[in-house]
Amino acid sequence: MTSVGSPARFTGRTALLTAAASGIGAATARRLAAEGASVLVTDVDAEGARRVAGEIQEGGGRAHDRPLDVTSPADWAAAVAAAESWTGHLDVLHLNAGRNLPGAAHELNDGAWHDQLRLCLDSVFYGVRAAVPLLRTAGGAVVITSSVHAAIGFRGFPAYAAAKGGIDALVRQLAVEYGGQIRFNSVLPGAVVTALWSEVPEEYKARTAARTPVGRLGVPEDIAAAVAFLASEDASFVTGQNLVVDGGRSISSQE
Ligand SMILES: NC(=O)c1ccc[n+]([C@@H]2O[C@H](COP(=O)([O-])OP(=O)(O)OC[C@H]3O[C@@H](n4cnc5c(N)ncnc54)[C@H](O)[C@@H]3O)[C@@H](O)[C@H]2O)c1
Repeated sequence: MTSVGSPARFTGRTALLTAAASGIGAATARRLAAEGASVLVTDVDAEGARRVAGEIQEGGGRAHDRPLDVTSPADWAAAVAAAESWTGHLDVLHLNAGRNLPGAAHELNDGAWHDQLRLCLDSVFYGVRAAVPLLRTAGGAVVITSSVHAAIGFRGFPAYAAAKGGIDALVRQLAVEYGGQIRFNSVLPGAVVTALWSEVPEEYKARTAARTPVGRLGVPEDIAAAVAFLASEDASFVTGQNLVVDGGRSISSQE
């Protein structure tokens, strides 16, 4: 288990993470557990969630796993009930599931459009609806993984941009709606090397790194650190925000 972070920040807290069998979700589960959280590692990939939870346990952390397809309201009800019966409370929710389904607007069929919105945006609504009753009694924090696609245009991803942009608007709305009870923020990762990048050509990766002011691509731990900050008491005065974590790529004029 990673040694970064302070063991005190999440001691006594329970965190439920989605899409945590891989990439950003797995790194965040490891990070929160390293800082003392009891983490409920969920993913549609049940085997992968079990593997990540097992690794955390082997490193001395507290973890449980369960299958959760974020597009299923029934799965959501069961996962939140599982968190409650495990520790009695839910303090942190990391809504992280997503994948960019490409297709120019004039070529997208209805099914592709709705699949993208269901995975990235409907799922957030289902998770929030299921977890708010428990989160509000704990004074919890929700962090949602958005994307730089919500803030700037990339050719060929209109449905992904709309879904991620919807997340960023929703966190402002929810932050107001649940005011002093639950904080809501989103993180907007830039280029982060995970399974999502497995088919991206090396040449494209090198060009992207060269155009990024910090001079490298992101790693899942970069996003985990930002999620941990937003979920922690260090961010107790931060709500309704969309935090870009992209090495400065989106504020650079370099083409
Ligand atoms: N990697 C990047 O460059 C990047 C950039 C911006 C935003 N993001 C966002 O970060 C999030 C995580 O991406 P990643 O790069 O870590 O991807 P990843 O491919 O490493 O992991 C994605 C995980 O999502 C799970 N998943 C897929 N469908 C699911 C469903 N219906 N229910 C539950 N889990 C499901 C997969 O099983 C997998 O474990 C996504 O929301 C993605 O849009 C990633």
